[in-house]
Amino acid sequence: MSQTSPTQYISQHKERFLNELFELLRVPSISADSAYNADVRKTAEMVAQSLRDAGADSAELCETSGHPIVFGQKIIDPSKPTVLVYGHYDVQPPDPMDLWNSPPFEPVIQKTEIHPEGAIFARGACDDKGQFFMHVKALEAMVKTDSLPCNVKFIIEGEEEVGSVHLDGFLEANKDRLAADVVLVSDTGIISNDVPSITVGLRGLSYVEVEVTGPNRDLHSGLYGGAVPNPINILCEMIASLKDENQHITVDGFYDDVMELSDAERAELAKAPFNLDHFKKSIAISAEEGEKGYTVPERVSIRPTLDVNGIWGGYTGEGAKTVIASKAFAKISMRLVPGQKSDKIAELFKAHFTKIAPASVKVNVKLMHGGEGYVTPSDFPGYIAASKAMEASFGKKPVPVRSGGSIPICASFEGILGLKTVLMGFGLDSDAIHSPNEHYGLFNYYKGIETIPHFFAHFAELAK
Ligand code: BES
Ligand code: MN
Ligand code: MN
Repeated sequence: MSQTSPTQYISQHKERFLNELFELLRVPSISADSAYNADVRKTAEMVAQSLRDAGADSAELCETSGHPIVFGQKIIDPSKPTVLVYGHYDVQPPDPMDLWNSPPFEPVIQKTEIHPEGAIFARGACDDKGQFFMHVKALEAMVKTDSLPCNVKFIIEGEEEVGSVHLDGFLEANKDRLAADVVLVSDTGIISNDVPSITVGLRGLSYVEVEVTGPNRDLHSGLYGGAVPNPINILCEMIASLKDENQHITVDGFYDDVMELSDAERAELAKAPFNLDHFKKSIAISAEEGEKGYTVPERVSIRPTLDVNGIWGGYTGEGAKTVIASKAFAKISMRLVPGQKSDKIAELFKAHFTKIAPASVKVNVKLMHGGEGYVTPSDFPGYIAASKAMEASFGKKPVPVRSGGSIPICASFEGILGLKTVLMGFGLDSDAIHSPNEHYGLFNYYKGIETIPHFFAHFAELAK
């Protein structure tokens, strides 16, 4: 037996662990843009190689009709429990480029107020290359110190940021190969570096694009203005009517299936520390806004939302052009909570939006993508193992929190493989995922690598 512990091994190999992540961050694996298909594939190959280098028995690319899925495993003893690690190697497009302080695919370390020991600035640093790679390095640390206590399988996909379109099919087709006892994911966050937390809920999502058509062509706004339906004005009025004065969503039937929390459950969630002034200051807003009767943490986790993500039409170029457009468009997302089904909500939206349209315009509602929310209990072996692991590495017991983001595949792990997911992420809300200057704290990267072997040790004990 080796005398070195995983924690010691990690501290001996810190530099290399960082350089290897940098290599991965340099490849622009943007899943949404087909111009980057070759880079997406190259990243998948690097991930598979990194798993083999870390000591996996095998790691391969599984082809889909989209981007490849990396599957790898190390089976030490089939009678022992198995942890299935899930992550994604694809990233969001980096735009707007001019708001980055350094190029998005040239990682650099910069100190920030929240990350005084430095953070890695690059697209994907936190979401999710920096986070899934912690698992690859933790595997290496466990293998090299002879301390891997159970079996491990990896699914690292390349389409999470575009809705994981081919993953359900992969799960269906590989049920035996994917047999495991728990799914472990690092693709969420903690409250802060001194308040560790574990995510116990994610929201679902319904995403639609709407098109409003007025006249059959663009018109001179002087010759026609005042007597014709302006689709941009009308779209704005329609959108404005989707919420009432209490910020309640007015789509017929929208709240029908919402699972309301009991006062006791709300009191439990309210224990997670939250500072409204810090929240407002961190994003430079003077006042918060949202559904009446709920706190800010509740509004961003246990309550559904409706937000316009983009709106366009007419003339938006330089100078002034006097025109009434023929068409107006908007992309609208609805974050859903347990009980709500994404398909049903999309249909309700479509029916409502069509109903409220004035007779002077035609509307078309396109359903883009959707996914279900997820709640995980805080008393099953996976959660307990994660809680003990974080307590060991942070010196504090983590608090359970419900997050507002979505990882639709968690519902599929449950539905298709019958597995519960533990969301043991290490990012911070302020790490700017999906935004310019995305970053991931060095503290968080190393703390994650250190915590994972503790999870494996506890889970192997609890699940045997
Ligand atoms: N990792 C995020 C989700 C996340 C981040 C959850 C932080 C909780 C805390 C994931 O990569 C993501 O961006 N998901 C998308 C949904 C997907 C269907 C495009 C989202 O939430 O918008
Ligand atoms: Mn992610
Ligand atoms: Mn993301």
